[in-house]
Amino acid sequence: MSVAPDPALVAGLDAWRSLPARQQPHWPDADAVAVATGELSTLPPLVFAGEADVLTARLAAAGRGEAFLLQGGDCAETFAEATADNIRNKIKTILQMAVVLTYGASLPVIKMGRMAGQYAKPRSSDDETREGVTLPAYRGDAINGHPFTPEARIPDPQRLLAAYHRSSATLNLIRAFTTGGFADLRRVHEWNRGFLDNKAYSRYEETAAQIDRAIRFMAACGADFDALRTVEFFSSHEALLLDYERALTRIDSRTGTAYDCSAHFLWIGERTRQLDGAHVDFLSRVRNPIGVKLGPTTSPDDALALMDRLNPADIPGRLTFITRMGAGRIRDALPALVEKVHASGRPVTWVCDPMHGNTITSASGYKTRRLEDVLDEVRGFFEVHHAAGTVPGGLHIELTGDDVTEVLGGSEEIDDAGLARRYETLVDPRLNHQQSLEMAFQVAEMIRGA
Ligand code: PEP
Ligand code: CO
Repeated sequence: MSVAPDPALVAGLDAWRSLPARQQPHWPDADAVAVATGELSTLPPLVFAGEADVLTARLAAAGRGEAFLLQGGDCAETFAEATADNIRNKIKTILQMAVVLTYGASLPVIKMGRMAGQYAKPRSSDDETREGVTLPAYRGDAINGHPFTPEARIPDPQRLLAAYHRSSATLNLIRAFTTGGFADLRRVHEWNRGFLDNKAYSRYEETAAQIDRAIRFMAACGADFDALRTVEFFSSHEALLLDYERALTRIDSRTGTAYDCSAHFLWIGERTRQLDGAHVDFLSRVRNPIGVKLGPTTSPDDALALMDRLNPADIPGRLTFITRMGAGRIRDALPALVEKVHASGRPVTWVCDPMHGNTITSASGYKTRRLEDVLDEVRGFFEVHHAAGTVPGGLHIELTGDDVTEVLGGSEEIDDAGLARRYETLVDPRLNHQQSLEMAFQVAEMIRGA
C-alpha cells in the first residue's frame, strides 16, 4: 500500500532555501544549476529507504554497546580515483579492520564507507591565492576541479551529475564486492593479498589463521555458514551541498516520509551545524540516520538543542554525535557534553573522529597528522565514556587502502622526509593500509578493556 505524501512535508524540504547556508559554492549561472538539479531529481535513488531504516536499527545497537560502527574512507573522493582498484583496496581495508575489531572485541561491527558520494568539502576560505593570482578554492569534485586554473576552479553544476554517476558506479561495485562472494569471511586471508608485507600485515595473518581454524571447527560441527557469505555495507558522506541532497531526496511510498537517497547515512560538518542554519533544517526533515560533527567549542546546551532539532521523537539510532576534539582537548572537552546528554536520558550514538582535531603542518609544509595523536584521541574517547558510564559506539576515520605516506608514524615510522614519497590526498591526510590495520588492533584492545 502506498501512502500519499503530506504537501506540508514536501514544501518543508525547501525551507532551507530561505535560511543561511554556509559553505555553498558561488555558482556563476543559477539557470545551469536548475538544469542539473532538475535532471538529478529524475534519476533513480542510490539507496532505498528500507536500507536506511536497517542502518538506524544498527546504529541504535551501537548506541547501546551491542555493536560498533566503523566508518572510513577518503577525506575527499575524486573522480579520477574512483577506479576499481582503489575502491577494492578501500573495501578490503575496511573489511580487514572490521575482522580485527569483531574478532578482537567480540562485537558486531557496522561497516560504513565515507564512499560513493564524498565529493564536496567545506573550506576555510572561499578563495586561494598563488603568486598574486586569486581563484575560487577547490571545494571537491562535485563542484570544481583541483588544478589551479580558472577553467578548473570555476564551479560547474554539471559536476553534480558527474558526482551522482561516479557515486552510482562506486556503490554498484561496493554492492558487488560485499554481496557477490568477495567479502565471504572464509576468504579472510585473501583480503591481505596485494598489500605490502609488514608488521601489521603479519599480525593480520595470525588473526585470519585463528578465524579460519574457528570456521573449520564450526563447519565440522555442522554449522550453517550462509550468514558469512555477504556483509552489510553502508554508504555515507557529508551532506554539504544542499542543492545535491535536495535533488536526491525522495518520498518513500511505504510511509509517505522523505529520505535523502544519496547515501544511507549523512552527516552535518563542524562548520555547518548552526541550529538556525540551512543544513540542520534540511536534515531535520529526512528520515535517514544522520550524524553531526562536534568540535571542542560545542557546549552541552548546543548538543541538547541539536537533539531537539534533529531527533525530537528520540528515535534510537537516528542521531549520532561524531566528536572531533583533538587529542589534547578530548579529556577536557568531552565529559561535559557526554554527562549532560546522558542526564537527559535521550538516545544518542557517540562516535569518535580522531582525525579532524589533530591536523598539523609538518616542518616541510605538509598538512599531516601523527598516528600517535590519532590513537591518543581514541583512547581519551574511551576513557571519558567509561568514566561517564556512556557508550563509545564507533570510529570515524580517513583512510585509503593504498600505501600512501600522508600520516606521520606507525610501525613503518613515516617521518617528515618520508611524507614526500607518496603524498596524494587533495584535502586531508589519510591513514594508509598498514596504519589502518595497526589502529584496528589497538582499538580492539580499547573496546575489550571496557
Ligand atoms: C571531514 O569530515 O572531512 C570534515 C571536514 O570534518 P569536520 O566537519 O569535522 O571538520
Ligand atoms: Co577531512
